[in-house]
Order: sequence, then C-alpha cells, then structure tokens
Amino acid sequence: MAPKLLRSRCLSFSGPPETHAPDYLPDAVVEIRDGFITSVQSAADFSTAGHNLDHCEDLRDCLLLPGFIDAHIHFPQLHILASFGTQLMDWLDSYAFPAETKFADRDYAEAQAEPFLQAMFAAGTTCAAAFTSVHPHSTDVLMQAAHASGMRLIAGKVLMNRHAPPELLDGKDLGLPASRQLIERWHGSGRLQYAVTPRFAVTSTPQQLAGAGQLAVDFPGVYVHSHLSENPGEIAEVAKLFPDASSYADVYDRFGLLTPRSLYAHGIHLSDEERNLLAERGSTVVFCPTSNLFLGSGLLEINRFQNQKLAVATDVGGGTSYSLLTTLAEGYKVCQLNGLSWSPFAALYAATLGNARALDLGDVIGRIAPGYEADLIALKTDTIPVLDNRVAHASSLEEELFACIMLGDERCVARTWVNGNVVMER
Ligand code: GUN
Ligand code: ZN
Repeated sequence: MAPKLLRSRCLSFSGPPETHAPDYLPDAVVEIRDGFITSVQSAADFSTAGHNLDHCEDLRDCLLLPGFIDAHIHFPQLHILASFGTQLMDWLDSYAFPAETKFADRDYAEAQAEPFLQAMFAAGTTCAAAFTSVHPHSTDVLMQAAHASGMRLIAGKVLMNRHAPPELLDGKDLGLPASRQLIERWHGSGRLQYAVTPRFAVTSTPQQLAGAGQLAVDFPGVYVHSHLSENPGEIAEVAKLFPDASSYADVYDRFGLLTPRSLYAHGIHLSDEERNLLAERGSTVVFCPTSNLFLGSGLLEINRFQNQKLAVATDVGGGTSYSLLTTLAEGYKVCQLNGLSWSPFAALYAATLGNARALDLGDVIGRIAPGYEADLIALKTDTIPVLDNRVAHASSLEEELFACIMLGDERCVARTWVNGNVVMER
C-alpha cells in the first residue's frame, strides 16, 4: 500500500522533559506505512532528498502529537459520569454498581462498546487500560470492538465476590476460570492485552485475591489492574477486612498483586513505606485528577513519586472527562494546591510516552518516531475561540501548549489515527 505522508507541525518526547528536550519540528513530514511510522523529518530535508512535498497531505495548521494514552477508565460507567453528591463508597452503591448491573445483558453491553471507543477517539485517546464489568461478555464485546477499530487496548473482567450487589458477584469459582478463558482468548491477540482486574481489596475475599495473583503467575505478561488508597472510608474498610496486613498496599503484595505490570488507580493516601514497596515491585500508581476532585478523594502529591512509576488517567466515570487535556488541566490545579507547577511539557509527556512506559509499551506507542505504531492526533485550536485567541498571543511553544491544556478539550482534536487509520475527524 502507498505510504501516507502528513505535513504538519509535530511534537513528541523521547524521554522526560527534565532530561530530554522535546522533539519538535515546526514543519515536518511524517510517513506512515502499514500502521507504523516509517519516517519523521523536516519538510526541508524531505524536499532536499528529492521527494515532492505536493504528495503530502497539508496539515500545517495542526500540531501532530502521539495519541493520548488513558491508563485507567471504566467501560460500564459511560452513562454515569457527572453523578451528583457522593464520595467513593456511596457513589459506588448509588451509581457505579447499578450501571454495571445493566451489563449483565450482553446486547446492552455490546451496544455500548462502539460509543465508548468513539468517546475516547473523539478526545484523542488511542490506547487505554479499561475495567469492564464482572460479566465475561463485557470484556468480549469491548475487545471485539477495539479489535475491529485497530485500537491498542488493555482490558479485563472485574473480579468481585463480596460487598457489592449479589448480581454483580462472582460465584464459587471466584471468576477465575472465566478470567483464564478471557486471557487465553484475548491476551496478545493483535493489539489487545489482558489485565487481571480485582476491583479493590474491599470487594474480594483473600481467596479471590490469591486466585488473581496466581493468574498473574500463570500468565506472565498479563497486567494487574485495580484501585488503591483512594478514600479514607475505603482505607478504613480495608484495614478492618485485612487485619493482618500492615498496610493497604501490603494487602495486594501478600497475594502477589504488586507486579511490574500492575496499575493502581489513585494512591492518594499512601504512606512512604507503601510508596517504597510499590517502587520495589515496579508497580504503577495512576493519577486521576478529575476523579479525585469530583469524588472529593484528595490531592495526589505527584512530587512524592519522582523515582517511581506514575501514570495519568481519566477514571471515567468517577472522572468527569474523556479528555486527557482536561485531565492534565485538573492535574495542574491539583499540583498547584500541593505547591508544584506541572509544566506543560511534563504533563504532555505523562499523557503520551510516560504512560506508554508505565504500561511497558514505551518502545511501541507514545512517540512520533520511526518504528512506532501510528497512533496520532492532530490538534487544532480554532474550534475554541477563547483558546485560539490565547494561542495567537503565545510567545513560545510551551506557552501555547499550556493554553491548549488549560483551555482545550476534545473540541481541539481535529483528527485521530489508530494504527495508521483515521478513526475520528471533526
Ligand atoms: N474503587 C473501587 N471501584 C471504583 C470505581 O469504579 N471507581 C473509582 N474511582 N474507584 C473505585
Ligand atoms: Zn477507577
């Protein structure tokens, strides 16, 4: 197939901006073949090498970025974001569990898969780690839809066997054979990978957590995806349920659930010992600022995670936006309240290559560079007049990007490519 040639401004990161200058080309040609980026060069070099710039699609009014990576999101919660008035434990009972109960109907779940993916593509998200529901078919329908779109997705069936409505609980087999079958069906199939997904320590017995840990041993390479230390009420409940554990993080560690491929959403109230334990195990904490503010959970101090793996995510539907731009803007405000100014380069690195590295996919996605999978977005500011006006008065790339983060959202994602194909265009 003939390559695609895109001519645009182009920005990506080869490492954290504190140590690696951003890769920025004000006039670049990006070549895409068979779903991969095959070359990135300045338009001048492209032309000097004898190529005809007229063969490129002209996107010079856009900024190309790697597609955003959402390190924690819930498929069955697409209808409950922005639900009023509660904190975590009541919010689960009042909104999340009833929404997830509807996913018992396979047809209903199937009908939600495409809108869920489209909401992510519209926001410029090209890869995600997603909770499904406790029903195995909810993982099947989401994996099928992601496969059809070409999206890179990490997902898994939720494991719960206590402290949730009876119709959402795994039975005597603890949901383990179904998880095993799903891993065999989906893990490593094309761009799909599986995450063993115990919801959180509150909703699993020790037996179920032990079974989840065993799955991570039996299937090296699968992810572990859960929640940790989000809300004081939750933490008190975990301490009651696991009196022998020395901490919340220790509960997961006892069952082999702190692996280098473990993703733990929130981690707001972790002690230094817990953070050190996570660092030793190579596990990732996922910063979910819109959710943490919306549910009143607290302000994650990201400067405490300097030598540890930290990712960033929307956590829809506790989170209130599919947009990683909006998520970074709220993240900036959380950091401000902790006495830290999160630079726009650091924030955009986090949402792209930083998250890719946290997911152990840093050689595959998260950069616009030869050999990387062609998951891209084109940002354009003229759909938001206030932003467009602000950007017109920016005197540096950094100032422009900060305005895009603070004032932008899905409206300024003009186009999204997944695996080299356009999946959304505004
Ligand atoms: N802790 C356990 N389940 C959930 C959930 O669905 N959302 C959030 N934000 N936290 C949780
Ligand atoms: Zn969550």
